[in-house]
Amino acid sequence: MPEEKRTPAADANGKADDKAAAIKASAAATPATPAEPASPAGLPELVRFEKVTKSFRDGAQMRVAIQDISFVVHDLPNVGELVAIVGPSGCGKSTVLRMLAGLRPHFPATNGSVMALGKPVTGPSAERGMVDQKYSLMPHLTVVENIAFGLKLRGVPGRERHDRATEWAKKVGLEGNEDKYPGELSGGMQQRVSIAATLILEPKILLMDEPFGALDPKIRMQMQELLIQLWREQQSTVFIVTHSMEEAVYLGDRVLRMAAKPGRLVEELQVPRPDVPPEVMRKKPWFNDLTQELLRRLETDAPASGELPGLEKWRTQ
Ligand SMILES: Nc1ncnc2c1ncn2[C@@H]1O[C@H](COP(=O)(O)OP(=O)(O)OP(=O)(O)O)[C@@H](O)[C@H]1O
Ligand SMILES: [Mg+2]
Repeated sequence: MPEEKRTPAADANGKADDKAAAIKASAAATPATPAEPASPAGLPELVRFEKVTKSFRDGAQMRVAIQDISFVVHDLPNVGELVAIVGPSGCGKSTVLRMLAGLRPHFPATNGSVMALGKPVTGPSAERGMVDQKYSLMPHLTVVENIAFGLKLRGVPGRERHDRATEWAKKVGLEGNEDKYPGELSGGMQQRVSIAATLILEPKILLMDEPFGALDPKIRMQMQELLIQLWREQQSTVFIVTHSMEEAVYLGDRVLRMAAKPGRLVEELQVPRPDVPPEVMRKKPWFNDLTQELLRRLETDAPASGELPGLEKWRTQ
C-alpha cells in the first residue's frame, strides 16, 4: 500500500476529504489482484508469503489446506496496516495466520516461503503476537497477573510489570476488575484481557483469529473501536481473521479474500480506514455497498473482480 494513505496529517485529523484523496491515490496505484502486490515504494517488507502451500498427511490421506498463496505487506513508517482475512470455513485462514505465528502443525509450510521482518519464520517469536479464538487465559491468575504474564517470562521486575499490566487493564476498560479471575469475567472481558496480554508485549505484528466471534453485537463494536484505537497508538501491523464482512470492511485497510478447495487467495482489496465509530460507519450507504458486494463475492466464489464498487461512491460523496 502506498505511503500517501498513511500521512500523519490524514491520520491525525481523519477528515473524510483527506481520506478520500488518500484512498483515491492508493486505489490508483494499487492493483486489486494478488498477482500484483502493492507497490513497494522502496519500503522494507514486514511479511512475505511466496507461493506457500500447506498439506496435511501423506499419500492417499493427503489434504491440501492452502495452495500457492503469495502476498506482501510492507513496513510503513510510523504506522501499521490492518489486514483482514475473509473466506469460507475451511479455506485456510487460520492456517495462514498460524503459519505466520510459527505454530505447529500448520507451520512449517510444505512448499514456498514465509518471511517476517525480512527473515524466514522459524517458529514463534515475540515480534509476532497471537490472540487466538480460544482466549488462552490462565484460570488461576488474576486479570493483572494474566496481562503481566509475558513480561514475567521476559524477566521484567514484579513492581514494574504490575504497574504496566494495571495500566493496560485500564486501557482495555477493565479498571476495577484487576484482581478478578477469568472465571468471574464475561466473554468480552476475557477477550480484552487476552488482547491486553498480547499488546503489552508490543509485537510488531499482531495476529488475531476471529477475536470477536463469540461477542454480542454491541460489545463487538466496542471491541472493534478499541482495537482501532490501540492499533493507532501502537502502530503495529494487524492481521485479523473474521467471518463478518462488516468487521473486515470496518477494520481493514486491506482485505484478503480466500476461497476453498483448495484454500487459496483470490484477491486483495483496498478498503477505507475507519474515521468514525462502527455504529456510524454502518449507517453510511457506501459501507453497506462494500460489505454486500464483498459478501456476494464470497458466497458466489467469484473470481478476482477488482475494486469494490461501493468505494467509488464513497469517494465521490
Ligand atoms: N491440524 C490439522 N490436521 C489436518 N488438517 C487440518 C489441520 N488444521 C487444519 N486442517 C485442514 O486445513 C484446512 C484449512 O483449515 P483452517 O483451519 O485453516 O480453515 P479456516 O479457514 O480457518 O476455517 P474456519 O473458518 O472454519 O476457522 C481444512 O480443510 C482443515 O480441515
Ligand atoms: Mg479458522
